[in-house]
Amino acid sequence: MITTANIAEIRAQVKQWHMQGETVAFVPTMGNLHNGHITLVTEALKRADHVVVSIFVNPMQFGQNEDLDAYPRTLAADSDALINAGAELLFTPTPSIIYPKGLAQQTFVEVPNIGDEFCGASRPGHFRGVATIVCKLFNIVQADVALFGRKDYQQLMVIKAMAEDLSLPIEIIGIDTIREASGLAMSSRNGYLTAEQKQQAAAIKQCMDKLAADVACGKNIAESEAIAAETLVKAGFKMDYLSVRNATNLAPITNEDHNLVILVAAYLGNTRLIDNLTFSR
Ligand code: PAF
Repeated sequence: MITTANIAEIRAQVKQWHMQGETVAFVPTMGNLHNGHITLVTEALKRADHVVVSIFVNPMQFGQNEDLDAYPRTLAADSDALINAGAELLFTPTPSIIYPKGLAQQTFVEVPNIGDEFCGASRPGHFRGVATIVCKLFNIVQADVALFGRKDYQQLMVIKAMAEDLSLPIEIIGIDTIREASGLAMSSRNGYLTAEQKQQAAAIKQCMDKLAADVACGKNIAESEAIAAETLVKAGFKMDYLSVRNATNLAPITNEDHNLVILVAAYLGNTRLIDNLTFSR
């Protein structure tokens, strides 16, 4: 695997593959890779001849009081895992390569509406940071397809909307969430949890399963949401949001909606966990 922070080197390698008539898939990450990320690489290899991965802890998507400095940087272990998974090119830029003029002078991408509620409301500026870095990375790597985890459901919708709105010539694919045996969705932030908190955190998936079953069998949605949130509070969480929405546009549910998604964000101690579950009724 070639590892480089150099934009020209990334472009030259991808151009060479394309000139040979070969396809390229891209997996953007912030590093501290777990099985969810490795699954993205494995899935990427099923869809293209070559896989490019980026590791960049993007300062633009972190709020003032968030964990930018504490975010785990584990490049050596990440590299080994990527080589084993079959990635061939790893892009590891620094903030000054990506934002040479500094964040205040940086042109940004902002997707309207879909990112306004939920994580967008709790983390102002977060989706602007995500859309901007993903747009930049797409322009640097110039892959045919990019893969993202469905765990970040709203993020995936923001990225899909951005690619469509800006006519970016890339296919966006969402890959199902990989979970621990307990049901806890894999996330780099799980590393902040104590062993006891990890056990508590399994309640999120159990709660979503019950809520989906209740809504699917026709129970009142607002009441079912309230019961689910109360269950999580009893399990030790501080709630950010828990909501059942239209899975396609995240709008409040109408009687005609059949494809639904549960979106959850909640704190265990200082750690903010998010998860989601799609289901139909
Ligand atoms: O999901 C992530 O790890 C990040 O938000 C992403 C898409 C790599 C952009 O920094």
